[in-house]
Amino acid sequence: MARVALVTGGTRGIGAAISRSLKEAGYLVAANYAGNDEAAHRFKDETGIPVFKFDVSDLGACETGMRAVVEALGPVDVLVNNAGITRDVMFHRMTFDQWSQVVRTNLDSMFTCTRPVIEGMRERGFGRIILISSINGQKGQLGQTNYAAAKAGLVGFAKALALENAARGITVNVIAPGYIATEMVQAVPPEVLKTKILPLIPVGRLGEAAEIARAVVFLAADEAGFITGATLAANGGQYMA
Ligand code: CAA
Repeated sequence: MARVALVTGGTRGIGAAISRSLKEAGYLVAANYAGNDEAAHRFKDETGIPVFKFDVSDLGACETGMRAVVEALGPVDVLVNNAGITRDVMFHRMTFDQWSQVVRTNLDSMFTCTRPVIEGMRERGFGRIILISSINGQKGQLGQTNYAAAKAGLVGFAKALALENAARGITVNVIAPGYIATEMVQAVPPEVLKTKILPLIPVGRLGEAAEIARAVVFLAADEAGFITGATLAANGGQYMA
């Protein structure tokens, strides 16, 4: 029986590449999305991957959404907590709403998306939980106090959850992408990207979403059971933790 994988934020950007790669690797994939119906339906038509609309920052919506995934595909074996947003602004100009939107979507979602699947994983004695963090949670980034705080939080969450579930066949790992060619990075002012970011990437280019997806497929494998609590950087050499 194919294992079931759920990718949050799985219809666009890095998440879409992850969904596609997991499908190619033989998983039954469900892709979550929050708001962009047009992109989600296009993704579904192109890939045949079913899409599930719910807001990862809302516990009730996640519980309902997860039930729909389980009814359609079966219990979730692989959870990829990928959904994330930015609200970049200097902290001295940041509103609490800008702070809170990012923390709810990027960090509260660790609870809201993982809590509904963890008991089943423990009962079945297998699970792969993969969290998509960021280079900017490791090194900091001006304009991103909210995002860096949330993304750094994923690492502590992963280590604690990995310890709690290590004896139950469940691994919990983090991938920390650098600057990847997606809409999120395209939202960075072009001059800033050209003069302040690209020159700092030793491989000399933005990463590709498929390069992150490849790391997810590696960590999701049954054979990756000895890797847990780890953070894998994929950032073109920009930051070596
Ligand atoms: N690195 C270094 N310096 C930067 C910078 C960066 N990424 N972004 C801005 N600066 C510099 C500016 O060049 C400017 O310097 P000078 O005064 O010497 O010209 C100074 O910081 C202030 O910048 P702005 O004048 O642009 O100020 P602002 O208030 O209008 O905007 C900002 C500030 C919100 C930080 C904006 O510049 C911005 O959005 N920067 C990009 C931040 C960023 O890198 N976000 C990552 C998004 S991608 C992502 O999050 C995915 C991931 O996980 C990697």
